[in-house]
Amino acid sequence: MSAAAVADLEHPPAITPASEMRVAVLGTGKMGGILLQAFLRSGLFTQSQITATVAHEARAESLSHQFGVTVTTDNLAAAATADVILLGVKPQQMTDVVQKIAPSLTSKKLLISFAASVKTSAIEAAAGPGIAVVRAMPNTPAKLGAGVTALCRGAHVSDGQLALAQRIFDTVGRTVIVDEKHMDAVTGLSGSGPAFLYIIIEALAEAGVNVGLPRDTATLLAAQTTFGSAKMVLETGSHPALLKDEVTTPAGCTVDGILELEEGGLRVTLIKAVKRATQRARELANP
Ligand SMILES: NC(=O)c1ccc[n+]([C@@H]2O[C@H](COP(=O)([O-])OP(=O)(O)OC[C@H]3O[C@@H](n4cnc5c(N)ncnc54)[C@H](OP(=O)(O)O)[C@@H]3O)[C@@H](O)[C@H]2O)c1
Repeated sequence: MSAAAVADLEHPPAITPASEMRVAVLGTGKMGGILLQAFLRSGLFTQSQITATVAHEARAESLSHQFGVTVTTDNLAAAATADVILLGVKPQQMTDVVQKIAPSLTSKKLLISFAASVKTSAIEAAAGPGIAVVRAMPNTPAKLGAGVTALCRGAHVSDGQLALAQRIFDTVGRTVIVDEKHMDAVTGLSGSGPAFLYIIIEALAEAGVNVGLPRDTATLLAAQTTFGSAKMVLETGSHPALLKDEVTTPAGCTVDGILELEEGGLRVTLIKAVKRATQRARELANP
């Protein structure tokens, strides 16, 4: 390691404490709104630290009323005063919005995009030389603080900036850091995953009705069983196959059910679904 690199590690660039930062959320729609609410709920950022933007004046007014933060349609003004800029517009609008705020960007600011399929290199090209860009892929359970977000870093992101991005998305659930080459796979698994799991829950509930349970009871049993099983995997750290074995007694009921699942190809179907969604994410990222 060169002397300069060692010196860099000893004196990492100073990062403003979160309590003193200014944050802009450009494009505060469904996901931007979920994040904004989580910042306020968790106390990571207060109302006076946040500026949000939207496309329409009327929406700016109602959002400002709802959250008590400054909401405008002026991206450049919002970005100019911010240390951290979250980009929540639709993928096809991203380059245009970043080009417009580029004059306000400096190497000290952090851009975090949570738009699906937009690569850090595309944002860096629109932002200008040396700008730090983190890309995030959250999922919809973020709404209840039970999301999972994958983060990857662009070319100019320091460890401190990546840690800050992680703190920001920890407000809506768990975070994982991946190489950008894995972001399409993340989209296929945890991005699309809630839809796959809702179908599984719906099917389990339908099965409950089929064997005589009232629909509400069947849905509760199916959803809580899915939740509890996920919690077992996350909190015991045991391999899912081992946990499955614990439920499966010799010549019991579960093993008969498992045989049906295997015959129906559930396992292979889920693998194919994630592969296909990943492939589609790749197509959208490379039109
Ligand atoms: N929803 C999800 O589950 C999810 C998950 C992962 C990633 N994402 C990503 O999050 C991004 C937003 O998705 P969404 O579902 O939240 O969409 P959305 O609800 O349609 O939100 C988009 C927001 O952008 C605003 N907007 C449009 N043009 C703008 C501009 N030029 N300047 C400032 N704001 C502008 C819109 O303002 P108005 O309200 O005034 O129209 C709207 O509030 C997308 O890139 C998507 O890929 C979403």
